[in-house]
Amino acid sequence: PRPHVVVVGSFNVDHVWTVASLPRPGETLSGHYHTGPGGKGFNQATAAARAGADTSFVCALGDDLGGQLARALAAADGIHLRDLPCEAPTGTAGIYVDGDGRNSIVIGPGANAELSVEFVGQHAGTFGAAAVVLAQLESPVPAVEAAFALARRSGALALLNPAPADAVAPASLLALADVITPNETEFCAQLVRHLGERLSADQLPGLDDDTLHSGCRRLLPHGSVVITLGAAGCFVSHAEGALRGDARACYRVPAAAVKAVDTTGAGDAFNGALAASLAARPDASFADHLHYAVRYAGLSTERAGAAVAMPRDADVRARFAASN
Ligand code: RIB
Ligand code: NA
Repeated sequence: PRPHVVVVGSFNVDHVWTVASLPRPGETLSGHYHTGPGGKGFNQATAAARAGADTSFVCALGDDLGGQLARALAAADGIHLRDLPCEAPTGTAGIYVDGDGRNSIVIGPGANAELSVEFVGQHAGTFGAAAVVLAQLESPVPAVEAAFALARRSGALALLNPAPADAVAPASLLALADVITPNETEFCAQLVRHLGERLSADQLPGLDDDTLHSGCRRLLPHGSVVITLGAAGCFVSHAEGALRGDARACYRVPAAAVKAVDTTGAGDAFNGALAASLAARPDASFADHLHYAVRYAGLSTERAGAAVAMPRDADVRARFAASN
């Protein structure tokens, strides 16, 4: 059987406006509009599937057009959908993207807020087959904790993308994660919340590797922390004695050179590709997996949209064939 990844998370219908600058209070702007599938969970599931993993997606959907869209797209990508039918509407996101590719996002959780411990428990069999369980924080924390408890029981790797930044990842959840993958903002938010540090994301580029490493070690003493750095690639920090096939406890992986047109979902691309790579090649070094994930994410930014922008494994290999 192909390596199995279970993604637990959100599906949103994204409404996206491309504008010259992000709107300020009282301002009316007009911009180019498009809509498409999104939600960090679905974006990551799509990435995992297109990167080559046999993928299940555990989520909550409304009885509406958004729910139908999710079902049709999951079927098209061969994703096994385990959806809790809800009376609440399918999740939505309003996204503004400015001329520099920066975005502002507002989420209407809708059905995503109803994903339950009970529903996750009903799919214990799905988790039993998993090599990697991947979750984010657009779904209720108890449901994610239940998923990670099942991951632990089946010996699967628990990968937590602690996004968005304003979501709380309690210590009880971090304790169940083997690897966490915050971006700069999310890393600082967790350090502030759990360790009382005074740190903002704009200070992060000025920090040296030793300082970052020690912050990571205090945040997740038992596991690995991958800080995604956008166009600068990523930084990884492993717990002592758990180097996951790497020679060093901390190092950086540079990003691939790409021509980004839309970075929405780039973090999701990274997480889905990382999960698929970890599941497919359990004996490869963690550095190899990160190398694949940064390339996969880079290529996703060369295409507009979130889930629809996720490349296939063959596209990634072809795009970077010359640059090994
Ligand atoms: O990470 C990008 C995603 O965040 C979008 O697709 C939007 O739905 C929000 O969940
Ligand atoms: Na994109």
